[in-house]
Amino acid sequence: MKHMKKSNLSIFLMVFSAFLFGILMYNDNVKSIVDFTSSNPFSNNSREEVELPQEDCDLFTGKWVLDNKTHPLYKEEQCEFLSEQVTCLRNGRKDSLFQNWRWQPNDCSLPKFEARVLLEKLRNKRLMFVGDSLNRNQWESMVCLVQSVVPPGKKSLNLTGSLAVFQIQDYNATVEFYWAPFLVESNSDGPGMHSVNDRIVAPESIEKHGVNWKNVDFLVFNSYIWWMKRASIKVRRRSFDEGDTEYDEIPNLIAYERMLRTLGDWVDHNIDPLNTTIFFMSMSPHHRRSLDWGNHDGIMCALETMPILNKSIKVNVGTDNKLYSEIGTAYSLFSVVENVTRSLKVPIHFLNITELSEYRKDAHTSVYTTRQSKLLTREQQNDPASYADCIHWCLPGLPDTWNELLYAHIISKS
Ligand SMILES: *[C@@H]1O[C@H](CO)[C@@H](O)[C@H](O)[C@H]1NC(C)=O
Ligand SMILES: *[C@@H]1O[C@H](CO)[C@@H](O)[C@H](O)[C@H]1NC(C)=O
Ligand SMILES: *[C@@H]1O[C@H](CO)[C@@H](O)[C@H](O)[C@H]1NC(C)=O
Ligand SMILES: *[C@@H]1O[C@H](CO)[C@@H](O)[C@H](O)[C@H]1NC(C)=O
Ligand SMILES: *[C@@H]1O[C@H](CO)[C@@H](O)[C@H](O)[C@H]1NC(C)=O
Ligand SMILES: *[C@@H]1O[C@H](CO)[C@@H](O)[C@H](O)[C@H]1NC(C)=O
Ligand SMILES: *[C@@H]1O[C@H](CO)[C@@H](O)[C@H](O)[C@H]1NC(C)=O
Ligand SMILES: *[C@@H]1O[C@H](CO)[C@@H](O)[C@H](O)[C@H]1NC(C)=O
Repeated sequence: MKHMKKSNLSIFLMVFSAFLFGILMYNDNVKSIVDFTSSNPFSNNSREEVELPQEDCDLFTGKWVLDNKTHPLYKEEQCEFLSEQVTCLRNGRKDSLFQNWRWQPNDCSLPKFEARVLLEKLRNKRLMFVGDSLNRNQWESMVCLVQSVVPPGKKSLNLTGSLAVFQIQDYNATVEFYWAPFLVESNSDGPGMHSVNDRIVAPESIEKHGVNWKNVDFLVFNSYIWWMKRASIKVRRRSFDEGDTEYDEIPNLIAYERMLRTLGDWVDHNIDPLNTTIFFMSMSPHHRRSLDWGNHDGIMCALETMPILNKSIKVNVGTDNKLYSEIGTAYSLFSVVENVTRSLKVPIHFLNITELSEYRKDAHTSVYTTRQSKLLTREQQNDPASYADCIHWCLPGLPDTWNELLYAHIISKS
């Protein structure tokens, strides 16, 4: 005890007091504590303590609080890996308060994001985001969140076809993104095929993509927005490699569910839950109609500088049902995902980011972004009704919170 270093002592005290609490009070709020011993030469072998939220704490129900001490978690200009699509301040956005909000769950707090703690978890491992441009948004955020503790020359980004690999040498770890907007095969799978209007999917064909996901340790899926274009979608019965080009046109909900069952089958047959943890992000909302949050003078999301904070406003930005109810289709992609992920042998952790994101009408790239890889011109920026992007998000920004939630899950796994 006498020779115990200060950090060891504080861990001891925290564990001991947690223990006492548990014994004396059976208190639900006692936090578990993880102790990471770092052997990375750049981290001075210090021990890092992370307080984990109680396992049964609902991280997704809470509120946004202004906290410019802890947020943003990194600065836009300090992350060289950000694409021009998301660097809103550099692209001309004047207000930056959207970077200062922290998600506060009602019954516990998110663990403080420590890049080294995550990298220790990722040592000799691969973390891969799979899905559409919103998952790429989240992947870029994750790259920025971890890259700050990696010295120059010890990190690299390699973009090849549908795969982007951010490599962190000293940890032999990767943070990857794989483009597959429908998860299953489709006519939109080429990395340059980002605006295919006549979309055709093969809901039972996943192997061609799936081979790229094998042996990945943490898989983070999403797929939503590409299914939303119309109420029905063209589906092929077989893989695009096979000659048969016939298709049916069926309701999206049915096609979406078929896709999820295919994904579930693939997971059950290819994933050993002891080796791989799987996450599925719930849908990321858009904010295209300012009337949805009661702003009669708004232009989509373009003039918004504050989140929706008024708790008595029932957020309804058409994330799920509304768009479809207008064209007469009962819709609930959300519950389809929930239902399917629940019935699998291999657990899929469903990260429910939809509602907390619905409050963030202020956080979109709006006109401070690119279109077809070109920065919007000043003229285009002055015409938000035609050019505002109210789907994607500025970075730093909201996707960092999605990653704080992902982080909480990853570091909680022993
Ligand atoms: C060691 O690392 C810890 C945590 O990363 C940091 O707070 C501390 O300042 C470092 N100490 C030295 C001497 O570098
Ligand atoms: C998702 O989280 C919100 C709170 O952010 C909650 O109201 C909703 O019931 C949750 N949905 C599911 C399916 O867990
Ligand atoms: C943080 O917010 C406080 C109070 O709102 C303000 O006084 C301070 O200047 C802000 N700091 C930064 C770095 O923005
Ligand atoms: C590096 O990581 C990969 C997985 O990403 C793993 O297969 C390989 O064994 C690791 N190398 C070493 C030397 O541990
Ligand atoms: C990038 O990845 C591809 C495919 O894995 C590989 O062939 C290429 O050598 C890599 N490029 C660099 C610069 O590492
Ligand atoms: C899981 O990991 C174990 C031990 O590393 C290995 O023997 C096994 O083949 C892996 N399973 C799969 C499906 O990769
Ligand atoms: C919150 O919204 C309700 C319902 O729209 C409204 O009556 C109330 O005035 C709002 N409160 C504030 C503080 O804006
Ligand atoms: C999800 O499952 C519940 C309970 O089994 C069921 O009532 C609901 O209709 C299902 N929803 C969808 C969209 O399949």
